[in-house]
Parts: sequence; C-alpha cells; structure tokens
Amino acid sequence: MRFGHFDDAAREYVIETPRTPYPWINYLGTEEFFGLVSHTGGGYCFYRDARLRRLTRYRYNNVPTDVGGRYYYVHDSGDYWTPGWAPVKRELDFYECRVGLSYTKITGERKGIRAEVLYFVPLGTNAEVHRVILKNTAQAAKSVKLFSFVEFCLWDAWDDQTNYQRNFSIGEVEVDGSTIYHKTEYRERRNHYAVHSVNAQVAGFDTDRESFLGPWNGFGEPQAVAEGKSRNSVASGWQPIGSHQLAVDLAPGEEKSFVFVLGYVENPVEEKWEKPGVVNKKAARELLARFQTTGQVDAALGALRDYWTEMLSKYTVKSGDERLDRMVNIWNPYQCMVTFNMSRSASYFETGIGRGMGFRDSNQDLLGFVHLVPARARERLLDTAATQKPDGSAYHQYQPLTKRGNDAVGSGFNDDPLWLVSGAAAYVKESGDFGILREVVPFDNDPKDTATLFEHLKRSFHHVLKNLGPHGLPLIGRADWNDCLNLNCFSDTPGESFQTTGNRTGRTAESVFIAGLFVHVAPDYAALAEAMGFADEAKAAREHAARMEKTVLEHGWDGEWFLRAYDFFGKKVGSKECEDGQIFIETQGYCVMAGIGVASGLAKKALDSARDRLETAHGIVLNQPAYKEYHLELGEISSYPPGYKENAGIFCHNNPWIMIAETVIGRGDRAFALWKKIAPAYREEISEVHRLEPYTYAQMIAGKDAVRHGEAKNSWLTGTAAWNFVAISQHILGVKPELEGLRVNPCIGREVPTFTIVRKCRGAEYRITVANKATGKPAKLVVDGKPIEGTLVPYAKAGSVVTIACEA
Ligand code: BGC
Ligand code: NOJ
Repeated sequence: MRFGHFDDAAREYVIETPRTPYPWINYLGTEEFFGLVSHTGGGYCFYRDARLRRLTRYRYNNVPTDVGGRYYYVHDSGDYWTPGWAPVKRELDFYECRVGLSYTKITGERKGIRAEVLYFVPLGTNAEVHRVILKNTAQAAKSVKLFSFVEFCLWDAWDDQTNYQRNFSIGEVEVDGSTIYHKTEYRERRNHYAVHSVNAQVAGFDTDRESFLGPWNGFGEPQAVAEGKSRNSVASGWQPIGSHQLAVDLAPGEEKSFVFVLGYVENPVEEKWEKPGVVNKKAARELLARFQTTGQVDAALGALRDYWTEMLSKYTVKSGDERLDRMVNIWNPYQCMVTFNMSRSASYFETGIGRGMGFRDSNQDLLGFVHLVPARARERLLDTAATQKPDGSAYHQYQPLTKRGNDAVGSGFNDDPLWLVSGAAAYVKESGDFGILREVVPFDNDPKDTATLFEHLKRSFHHVLKNLGPHGLPLIGRADWNDCLNLNCFSDTPGESFQTTGNRTGRTAESVFIAGLFVHVAPDYAALAEAMGFADEAKAAREHAARMEKTVLEHGWDGEWFLRAYDFFGKKVGSKECEDGQIFIETQGYCVMAGIGVASGLAKKALDSARDRLETAHGIVLNQPAYKEYHLELGEISSYPPGYKENAGIFCHNNPWIMIAETVIGRGDRAFALWKKIAPAYREEISEVHRLEPYTYAQMIAGKDAVRHGEAKNSWLTGTAAWNFVAISQHILGVKPELEGLRVNPCIGREVPTFTIVRKCRGAEYRITVANKATGKPAKLVVDGKPIEGTLVPYAKAGSVVTIACEA
C-alpha cells in the first residue's frame, strides 16, 4: 500500500494523505542552518549544532508522536484549521505534501480556502523561509485570518527540557512591528538571538505561549486562533513563542502570498546592543531585507534548485527501471548529503542532544558524499583527522561546534582509525588531490603535536598492527563496526553504557571484521604511500595485508563461513560451535570485499552461507540464530529482543557489503536483488509494513525473529545511505573512481539489459553506454572508438567528454 507517489520530473515525493503510518520528514538547509520538517509541518530548526543552538522547541516521543513545529493556522469565519491537517486535524478537502530536495511544500484546502506553505532554507542563509500562499477557491469574497506559530527553544536543547526551575524565569522577547525577537540569555553571555518576521503588516501578535493557546489547550486548539484574535502578549519568562496574525481579504479566485522568515543572528560582542536593553537589530534587518518579495523568494528557491541540479549531475543513470533511476539520480545522493551534514545528530530517531559526529560514521558518510562536493569532504577529513590521538587511536565522536574529541565517549573502538584511511582514499580517488596527504593536521587538536595527513593514515594502519591478539587478529577494544559486540564490557549494572564500560581489560578479544577491513584498505593505503614516495612503507603494508589474510584463513574461517570474533575467553563468536549467533553478516561481506578466499572458492561458500542462513524477503539479517538471552561476555548485542537492531535485525548498513561482495565473485543478479530488497523506492508498495519514508533508507528493518518483521526504524541518519550508494553506483552499475582512472565494470545481472551513465569526475565527463549480457566476467570497453585492455579508463583532461561503450 502506498501513501503517495514519486514525481521524478519535479524530484519530489508527493504524500497524498496526512495519515501516514509515521511522521515522514524532510531536511531543510545545506550548510549551517538546518530544519527538520514533517509532512504535517512538525519539527524544529537549529544553527549548526542541534543541541547547543536550537531555535525552536520539539518534544520527542510525544503523544501523538509528532507535536510541535512551524505551524500556520487559517481562521475562516469561526472555522479554523491547519493546511498540514495536524495539529488541528480538521478534515481537509485537499491535502498534499511535496517532499523536495531541501524544501517541503504542504498544501491544504478547506471550504474554499487553499493554503500552500513552502518551507526552505535559502543557500548561504541562516534562516528558514516560509512562503504562505492563500487562495480563495470559492465563488464569494472571503476575509480570513492567518496565524503563524513557533515555540522558541532556550537554545541548549538538553537544558531546555530539564532545567525548568531556571528556565521558566528567563524567557525574553522584543516585538518591533511585524518582527519578533527571541533574546533569552542575550542579556548575559549569548551574542545571538532568533528573529521571526513576516513581510506584511500584522493585525496582532503573541509571544507568550499560554496567552496564545490558553492554559489548558494544546497546539490543536489555540484560543487566540479559535477566537480569531491575538492577545498581543509579550513574554516574560515561561514559554516564549512567535505568532503573527494577518487579516487577509480575498476576492473569488484571488491569491495572496506572504513571506515569513525564522532566522538566527549573531552579533559581535561589542555590538550587542542598540541601546541599553535593546538588541542590535541591524544584522536581522539585513537578513529580512533579502526576503521581502515573492520575487526574492522565487530567486532563492531557483538557486537552491540549480544547486541540486548541478550536484546531482555528477552521476546519473538511465536504465528503464524508474525505481533504480530515482534512487541513484535523486534520493540516495540526497540522503548522502543529509547524513554528511548531520552525522547521527538530529532526526526523528536521534534527538540532537546525544551524539556528536561519529569518527567512523563521518568517514563512511563521506564515501557516498564525496562526489557531490569534494571540497567539503576535504574539510571534513581534516577536521576528523584532527581528533585522532597521537597513538593512532581515535575519539569515537567529536562535537560539531568545537570540533573536539568527546571525552565522555572516549576512544578504544579499534575499527575507527581504519575508516580514516578509507575516507581519505575515497577523497583522493574522486578529486585527484594528492596534496591533501601533505596537509599538516594536529593530533587531538593540539597545535603543538602535528603531522601530515599521510602520517595520520600511517598511524591508523599501524594502530591495528600494534594491537593484535593471541591469534594475530586485531583486538576489538570496546567494539568494532558493530557497536553492540562489547567483548570486554561484562556489564551487569542496569543503565551502564555498553560502549563506554570496560569491566575487563584483557588483550584477548579479537575481531575478524577489523582484519577484513584492514586487508580491504591495505591496497589503498599502499598506493597512497607510494604516491608520497614511501615505497618501503607501501611494500611493508602489502606484506602486512598478506599476513593478515593468511591469519584470517587460519583462524577466522569456520568451515562454511567467516567467524566473527574471539571473545574475552578466546571462545569463538559467529561459529557453528555457538548455540546462538553462529553466523554474522559483517565478516562474510568485508572479508570477501577484501578478496579473501575469492581464488579458493571460500568466498563463494561464505556468501552462499549468508544467503542460506541470513537472507529474508526484507533483506539480510545481521546474525543467526538471534541471541535468545543476555550474554554478559557479548554485551549489548544480546540485550536486544531477537530480530531488532544488532540482534538479528536487518541492518541496512551492512547489506551493501554483501552486495559488493557478490559483485566481487561476479554474481550481479544476487547483488541487484539484494539491493532491491532494502532500497526504499522498491519498498514503497509495502509502506504499511515498512512504515517509514519510501524515499529514504532506514538504519534497520526488523528481522525474521521479530514480531514486526519488515518494519523499518531509524530512517535518514545512517551509514546505510553512503554504503548503498557505493554498492549500486560503483559496484552494481559499476562506475568507480580509482587513483589512476575511472573503473567501468558493471555487475547487475540480466534484469537490466542496457543502460547509460553520465559520470562527471575531476572536471571531465564520461558518457557510458552499457550493453549488459551479464557475463559475470570483466567488462570490455571501447573508449572514444578504441578498444582498451582492462576496465580502467584513464582520467581525461578537465573539460573533455569521453565516450565509453561497455559490454558487460
Ligand atoms: C545501538 C547502536 C549504536 C550504539 C551507540 C546502540 O544502542 O544499537 O546502533 O551505534 O547504541 O550509540
Ligand atoms: C550506529 C552507529 O552510528 C554506527 O557507527 C555503528 O557502526 C552501527 N550503529 C552498528 O552498531
């Protein structure tokens, strides 16, 4: 069952009913100012850091789920309603929500008034712009009232939800004509305020929540709206809000449009005040002046559209399968941008107050983002590397505002350092910018302890080698990619963090996954070392990788599949000897991606085992059998009920590792089939089961052991976006930048007999036409009319167009 449809020409998903199974959201903003907006107008916005600079309040896990947002109420002769249906929930004659690229447009119509609300953050602007168009679709003239509404957050979202004894006394605003200034704490240490304005004369306003709603009402029944009369309240403590009232007369067929701006303004400390107690509004006025006319709004929206058109032109496919095309051309890269911007901070499942930027997360997000804006990937790499510790280990997370490692979570996740190598290699492949390797970057943000980026990669690589366990496999530390495999944790205290608790400090628990990751990144690391002129280091790296591969085959192979780990006691994890958790997905994927066992046929065996034991109609589960009870020696993985999250859920992040592995052994049909099981556009038809947005990957789909098998959770912010883009674009469709050239080697099975791809890379454009006979063998290429040896097309000069005919 669907709740809408894709409009590919407009690059939109059109939600046709507000009664979706769950709030379906979108993101506004591309660089510094961001908003989350649901299909009913719920959500919130913030400047750079969802915790420390939150402009509007949002209460998570509310009843109903999605309460609070940037709302517009229409009051029409005693009747009042909201165009997004909620929060008033008055029946609408028409409803539609267009989820676009960095904008959302919600239209509602009731009794002859149509209201369209467009939400977006213009490029280079620290503000949301809301354009509201009211149209009289009736035969008679109408006089309606339009009310805006936002509830301000007192900046630090955590404090805002916990420290009421202080917060109920500190709220302050200023009202100046049609502009409301939220200036809580500006009197003391803050030099920023929020501004909420409309480009028309107001008939009234409110800035105190209780005055606007009435003491016993929710957002669905504001007294001021019900009575059609603002209170002109000026907040003093309690809950500051911003609400404008406009009186709008509309002749039959007439429409009027209004521009609301909700922005963030920072002043130099010495220029905070206009006069004592009155905030300096100059910067706010400059901001507002940019969005006074609908022409200005149209131009800003056009610029945003062009920005996306340009970015999405970096990789496009035309295949005849519209779902494949829309995922690759629009929605997957879009999500990659969002995860790159947000890491795991703010979604409808991440509160924006908990987690900073993940070290491994950011490096993996970059894999799917780097082709969109390489310059921003560069900056991110350097920021991330600057949080690495001198011994090569890494802070697991860092804070976006300070860019400093997070001491509360600390380090000790032994896969973390290697992801920096993957990320850096992907960046250099895309951009050809070998110079980044010589950039000087601090360790742990200490300006006195610096080294080249290459030296950081070297310390990452050697960190693994310095931390090997009894079998010669890498020590796992607190956890590897699987945050919930906590083999040194041994926690029996409720509430203790599985990730930061280490009750045992042995050097025994080892990860076969990190070994696979190590073997996989080693060739890239060696090639980068060579590029730096360090031939000896390159040679040594290749030898280390060969040794690690041997170790995996000796101690990491279980007979039919790759083992997952050895626990604290040296017992196998992910072995046929185990009662539960006999086989895990991660090592089957990554070890084969690394090429381990490919020549001997063990790789095929491992992937067959994954297929036979882990695959379901909704994707591949993480492990089987699911852990039935809590195991002190395994940690969080066994804390989850069977079928959810890391305990045998379908973790969409690592399904692509199996897809890529399948292409390594030439089984394109398997790879493509697996991708289609989790790609949201292919799940649109079962939206009542999947329940989350059909245009965005979710982190997890409940596994076969779960009651709610097939139901997704945690959409948007997940490494799933990047990895699925890598799998489908680079390995299945098969166009992948390497250091020396563009690899063209599709592996997609018979279902897609012909397709074309346009790939822009390093300033040149490659037009690729694929005749796909699904041979499972390396493709044959004719480049600009001449057949070439192998599948690597040398990079062409910037500005040139290269035509490639490919037979796969
Ligand atoms: C989740 C993981 C997550 C970890 C750290 C666990 O509860 O299951 O997916 O990475 O917490 O936040
Ligand atoms: C979510 C975390 O953000 C990511 O780093 C981790 O790899 C997965 N969970 C799996 O545990």
